[in-house]
Amino acid sequence: MTLPTSDSITFLLNDEPHSVGGLPPTLSLLRYLREHLNLTGTKEGCAEGDCGACTVVVGEKHGDTLALKTHNACIAYLPTLHGKAVYTVEYLTRNGSAHPAQQAMVDCHGSQCGFCTPGFVMSLWQHYEAHIDNSGTSRAQLANDLSGNLCRCTGYRPILDAGEKMFTLPRVPFDYSGARTKLNALAQVATRFEDAEGRYFAPDSLAALLQLRRRLPDSTLLAGGTDIGLWTNKLFRSLGTIIYTRNVPELHALTVDENHVSIGAAVSLTDAYNTVCADYPQLTELRDRFASLPIRNAGTLGGNVANGSPIGDSAPWLIALGAEVVLSNVDGERTIPLASLYTGYMQQSRQDDEILRAIIIPRPRKDQQFHCWKISKRYDSDISAVCGAFSLIVESGQISEARVAFGGMAATTARATDCEADLLGQAWTRNTVDSAMQALDRDYTPMSDMRASKSYRKTIARNLLYRFYLLTAKDSGYDEEQSLRAFTLPEIAV
Ligand SMILES: Cc1cc2nc3c(=O)[nH]c(=O)nc-3n(C[C@H](O)[C@H](O)[C@H](O)COP(=O)(O)OP(=O)(O)OC[C@H]3O[C@@H](n4cnc5c(N)ncnc54)[C@H](O)[C@@H]3O)c2cc1C
Ligand code: FES
Ligand code: FES
Repeated sequence: MTLPTSDSITFLLNDEPHSVGGLPPTLSLLRYLREHLNLTGTKEGCAEGDCGACTVVVGEKHGDTLALKTHNACIAYLPTLHGKAVYTVEYLTRNGSAHPAQQAMVDCHGSQCGFCTPGFVMSLWQHYEAHIDNSGTSRAQLANDLSGNLCRCTGYRPILDAGEKMFTLPRVPFDYSGARTKLNALAQVATRFEDAEGRYFAPDSLAALLQLRRRLPDSTLLAGGTDIGLWTNKLFRSLGTIIYTRNVPELHALTVDENHVSIGAAVSLTDAYNTVCADYPQLTELRDRFASLPIRNAGTLGGNVANGSPIGDSAPWLIALGAEVVLSNVDGERTIPLASLYTGYMQQSRQDDEILRAIIIPRPRKDQQFHCWKISKRYDSDISAVCGAFSLIVESGQISEARVAFGGMAATTARATDCEADLLGQAWTRNTVDSAMQALDRDYTPMSDMRASKSYRKTIARNLLYRFYLLTAKDSGYDEEQSLRAFTLPEIAV
């Protein structure tokens, strides 16, 4: 197979076309900005997507619209920026005066040592652009948009104040139409980027991707890079040949019919979770607690599922809802239950030349009760110690279908088969849940690690099932709002 080749990439950098080639495919955008262009406003804190010091804004065209989203430059490989627009903190002061996001940080004393400040400013700018047309925002939405930024000296209150104040300053709107015109003028095809250390292919059709994968079954499939970026930055692993999946239009398909939602493997976590939360609002808290906004903007649902981590946050609820995955290679496709994809710790039934094409999720059914909870040490930007998902069909008071799945309890995300068998055919009552909680003990033998001890995991799994009962069973008499009110602390004046 002959591939069209281009040994350079072109993107808009702070609104100007910028071409580069001859560099390692795994060079991060952050290192390129700082070490090759001397654009040192973007900082390196953790180099693993956690602290937000490296936050930049990336613009991507979707049809006629241009979406501006925050990304972590430390785990974004340079060639993945081809055809996109990258904005760094230097862009905001290009006219010699501070942008409202910067001025408000000064006015509200939102900065002390200043190391985190450029990253916060970029997240504030993204929030500003998303709400400048008065589309309505709140302090909670602002906190969500800043979930990927850590500050170790100022404290968050002045920064949140700045996020509100910036809207009261003279407006500095972004020129979307100008940026779109410039993006349209960029060459759109780059399928290959290489130096002596590695090769990078970015096929632009499913057929080309599948052929490449057949030819190079040992290659690394790269989607958002929010897992893979750490393999190179922290483990210093070589990725060999990289095949980037996110230029394949078929993998961005997102369709909703009467019974199913189908999410292409390259759809971002932000878009995938927003779609699923429309059907299952019970997942809203998990969505907001999944990593941080920049990670959700870069990462994909396909990457989360294909990664196969036993502590990934999507597999538990997908398995509880009975999701299936579509696996493709050049010979065709097969659709299997997600639960049967995982065969052991980081092992899968996927063949070497198969890629994950889509995830198919059943829509809510009559008499279905569903919930999912993530337990982690920090509220956001943390990995789960345990994640539990529960789905019951309760018809005329009896459980006719039970699906319970946990992450963090075994070598793979796994269904609680004893617990499910215990629930089936029973009335959804206190006695039933008591027995099912004991069955959970037989289902899992979790391990102790830095996130939680074995006994904590076992206790929390039982308690989550009990919480599900309290919220959904008619005989529980539980009022969560009233219960939460008992824990609400009085507001402290500042
Ligand atoms: C700071 C931080 C916080 C995080 N927090 C969370 C969290 O709260 N919860 C959580 O679950 N995860 C978390 N993660 C992990 C990560 O963000 C997710 O697993 C994410 O969904 C991975 O998607 P990606 O597109 O970035 O995958 P990538 O890193 O590109 O790839 C991940 C794996 O999937 C494979 N792959 C990707 N696409 C395909 C495909 N189409 N077919 C076959 N294989 C494919 C890759 O080869 C690789 O093995 C966090 C990561 C970071 C850096
Ligand atoms: S340097 Fe910490 S998120 Fe990138
Ligand atoms: S101002 Fe010092 S880390 Fe935020």
